[in-house]
Amino acid sequence: MGAETRASFGGRLVAILAAAGSAIGLGSIWRFPYVAGENGGAAFLLVYLLAIFVVGIPVMVAEFAVGRATKKNAVGGYRQLAKGWRWLGYSGIIAALFISGYYYIIAGWSLEYFVNSFGSLYNEGVDFRTQFGIFQTSWRPLLYMVIFVVLTHIIIVRGVQDGIEKASKVMMPMLFVILIFMAIWVAFMPGAGAGYEFFLKPDFAKAFSADTIFSAVGQAFFSLSVGMGCMVTYASYFDKKTNLVGTSFSVSLLTLVVAILAGLVIFPAVFSAGIAPSEGTSLVFVSLPEVFKGMPLPSLFSAIFFLLLALASLTSTISFHEVLTAYISEEFGMSRKWATTITSTLSVVLCVVAMYTAFDVSIPGYNGTMLSDLFDFITASVILPLGGLFTCLFVGWRMKPDFLRGELTNQGTIKSRLYHVLLFLMRYVSPLLIGYIFVSNFV
Ligand code: PFF
Repeated sequence: MGAETRASFGGRLVAILAAAGSAIGLGSIWRFPYVAGENGGAAFLLVYLLAIFVVGIPVMVAEFAVGRATKKNAVGGYRQLAKGWRWLGYSGIIAALFISGYYYIIAGWSLEYFVNSFGSLYNEGVDFRTQFGIFQTSWRPLLYMVIFVVLTHIIIVRGVQDGIEKASKVMMPMLFVILIFMAIWVAFMPGAGAGYEFFLKPDFAKAFSADTIFSAVGQAFFSLSVGMGCMVTYASYFDKKTNLVGTSFSVSLLTLVVAILAGLVIFPAVFSAGIAPSEGTSLVFVSLPEVFKGMPLPSLFSAIFFLLLALASLTSTISFHEVLTAYISEEFGMSRKWATTITSTLSVVLCVVAMYTAFDVSIPGYNGTMLSDLFDFITASVILPLGGLFTCLFVGWRMKPDFLRGELTNQGTIKSRLYHVLLFLMRYVSPLLIGYIFVSNFV
């Protein structure tokens, strides 16, 4: 697509929905509860909140500015503004590949649980942990992963307005409704109180431990989809009237609300069912069926929830797929169809390798066993925070202040009271903080 004929999202609300669709996904509903569970619950929530406001929002605003100003893919965007910084775009491309190498697998799990809600999942005497293990060792994760890539592929081929926009508009509101309903339901489960205590009453000693801070910053970047050019790519479809700061606040708040709602559903359920909150990656898939089991029509509620989780994941997979597709089609002058096909094929190959390769080594902050766990660690804990750090340095120092001011005020047509605060955060606070956390974890 040339610059003049480039597609765009139709209006302000759609821009928010698309970016929120990217942000809200497995990160808030699957990853947030288990990482919080491993890091002390409420302590983690507190640091995560801070991380969103102090580093997440400034990075998102910086990415929005680069994307909308250049109307290019991640690599093209940085290159147009400063040739020597195009590597920052490439680091986003690499992160998108790593995320593609495992996100579809987990998204496939939710699809499997959706289908299985009507199958044997709620039969008498099923133990959900055993059930999860059986599923893991079968061929089905492979099948559902491929189905998920195909679904993403279909939306992306259809392009920005038909695919991404329509998908986000319908799915996001539905997700809110079901989460709120479930949060109310679990409140009445026996033993739920301990879950609230775990999730909402911070132990400050733990909150400011190096491990918690490291994990919370990674989670903030991952859940906001920042640090890898995804928001650069999406903002390249924003129109010139989109309010970048407002959009970034809306997206961050929506993401935060979903993560908190997920916590308010999962932790009471976990404690009520006597499951350890530090269960790890299977947490949602083991604890939530316990909740559904006690409801009337368990299969129906379970199916609705896992369908929505799959749909929320879909609005995220399309976003990192788009990072790669936009890059390939624009940089190599390829048709959208071909670029999409290459991206989808690569994604399947990476997932297959990641699924069947063990990776059980000791790296500070890493506690996985499979290559897919390593992919998650490298993206959320390494590339995204570093990408975010350099994005702040780029917009804060490399570009003239007028660049940011121009983008935040839509070239002087609106006011931006937060310009100075954001510039300060981008220049000093975010880079120093991310750098410090990063160095203290690894050195
Ligand atoms: N933010 C998404 C989630 O929380 O599930 C994951 C994600 C999407 C990360 C797109 C990065 C990205 F570029």
